[in-house]
Amino acid sequence: MSANLASFLYLVSGVLFIMALRGLSHPTTSRKGNLYGMAGMAIAIVTTLVYATPSFNGFVLIVAGIALGGGIGAVIARRIAMTAMPQLVAAFHSLVGLAAVMVAAAAMYAPESFGIGTVGAIHAQALVEMSLGVAIGAITFTGSIIAFLKLDGRMSGKPILLPMRHIVNAGLAIALVVLIVLLVTTQSTTVFWMIVAASLVLGVLIIVPIGGADMPVVVSMLNSYSGWAAAGIGFTLGNLALIITGALVGSSGAILSYIMCKGMNRSFISVILGGFGGETAAASDDGIERTVKQGSADDAAYLMANAQKVIIVPGYGMAVAQAQHAVRELADKLKEAGVEVKYAIHPVAGRMPGHMNVLLAEAQVPYDEVFELEDINSEFAQADVAYVIGANDVTNPAARDDKASPIYGMPILEVDKARTCLFVKRSLGSGYAGIDNTLFYKDGTMMLLGDAKKMTDDIVKAMEH
Ligand code: TAP
Repeated sequence: MSANLASFLYLVSGVLFIMALRGLSHPTTSRKGNLYGMAGMAIAIVTTLVYATPSFNGFVLIVAGIALGGGIGAVIARRIAMTAMPQLVAAFHSLVGLAAVMVAAAAMYAPESFGIGTVGAIHAQALVEMSLGVAIGAITFTGSIIAFLKLDGRMSGKPILLPMRHIVNAGLAIALVVLIVLLVTTQSTTVFWMIVAASLVLGVLIIVPIGGADMPVVVSMLNSYSGWAAAGIGFTLGNLALIITGALVGSSGAILSYIMCKGMNRSFISVILGGFGGETAAASDDGIERTVKQGSADDAAYLMANAQKVIIVPGYGMAVAQAQHAVRELADKLKEAGVEVKYAIHPVAGRMPGHMNVLLAEAQVPYDEVFELEDINSEFAQADVAYVIGANDVTNPAARDDKASPIYGMPILEVDKARTCLFVKRSLGSGYAGIDNTLFYKDGTMMLLGDAKKMTDDIVKAMEH
């Protein structure tokens, strides 16, 4: 295969990846988007195999690697629960970072195989790209492992604030720049490994102070880093597909982090600097005895069947309970009874962007009944019932009314404006941010304590009588 043809095919795969991202931006086109992505990746892999594989042995090794890695990936992806997706993504990112380090090490020790010079005489440009790729890759590797451990509950989700951490991190960052300059001038493998070591430590130190509540943003940020690391290595290898894909992953990860920060009204810098979520707000410890109105499935069925408009607000608890099908059934029953039903989705409901949209799509909820926060918030005032199922933080009025609250400023779904707010959860416990929700104690709120699926099923049954 000629170099021109290979470049052309890499370009085709790049275009397919862009079409994949476009498709994935809406539930109706996401399947098509996935297909574009798969086609793009198939073209990129086949082109690399045919164009860039030097020997039969190399070919066999690559195919064996794809079969092994692909096989393990397919099994894990099939088994993983939707709620464990963020930590799975974090674990996979760590591998992307490690791969970037490995490729850079291979290029360092066998530059002639990569066409970037000979040992001790590697082109300066390639060395700069390689050192950036390896540094970002190593930071991504350890950073993602810490993110995985925190998200999976194997390590405390609380921020770990080391003394003088900003100074230590700044020192390490400066040391990294010095080492990169040294690598370019001396081509020493020792310096190369010193870059790897400093970056591995930096990866841990950057992520350790970040609290669990900010972790999804971090995962997306690490996703972005892994993309830039791949792009850096792509320049070293002169591989167009890697450059395009890396840049796409890098920029889409950065945009996603931005969207999440906006959804929580947090600045990206404050997320990176860490410390959020350490002080679990003790809003409930103000000594005031508060009463909660508790209801049953029958009460809820009565209220909803007699409503004109019901807005359903799903959250993380719906995902845990896998209650989306029951929710759809409830909505169908209500619609049969002439009730107008809409769904309201907060941008950070659940544990990853689009979490709720995916679950509702799985339960075949019509897309035109599902609304984003800014499109539906004004409608709560006209709703008879807001059915909050497993959502908590995204409805917490403290974010709107209490300047002292750690989540102050985060946009919320204004469920408290509905005539009645039915709140389904198992206890009066807090949500992800660890903050008490004053909504539980408001006059218009009725708590339906129980598992989201069981409670919704019971309401459906009660409506049948
Ligand atoms: P949360 O505030 O985490 O609340 C979920 C609630 O679901 C919990 O309070 C829990 O209460 C309840 N629950 C758990 N299992 C349940 C079950 N089986 N049945 C019924 N209820 C159950 O969820 P949210 O409102 O969706 O907010 C998302 C949080 O994640 C926000 O703090 C957000 O900032 C954070 N976050 C999300 C993202 C993205 S991209 N989605 C990114 C960064 C941060 P009980 O234990 O009492 O049942």
